[in-house]
Amino acid sequence: MKYIDKYFGGFDKLKYNVSQISKSVEGAGWGILGYQTFADSLVVLPCDNHERLTQWGVVPILVIDVWEHAYYLKYKNKRGDFVDALFNIINWDNVAERLETARKLV
Ligand SMILES: [Fe+2]
Repeated sequence: MKYIDKYFGGFDKLKYNVSQISKSVEGAGWGILGYQTFADSLVVLPCDNHERLTQWGVVPILVIDVWEHAYYLKYKNKRGDFVDALFNIINWDNVAERLETARKLV
């Protein structure tokens, strides 16, 4: 929670940032909440078109899959609705565990 407050100003703002970045991904890709090792901080990144992300020193701790295969069968072209629904099932305890693991890599 300390990181969320420091870098996003609260959990709702974190959710908003991750959600908006995920919805804005161009083509097939992911929205990523990552731990930036060199700055000891959290970052939110769009990973457009799968292979175009080059962000060295970032360990993904939450990845939102917004490839069409992730949502199209149920949500058709409503990718935003898929992202919103996903936030109802994210295991934030697991995200916190991943952050702690990532911090040990430094
Ligand atoms: Fe996928």
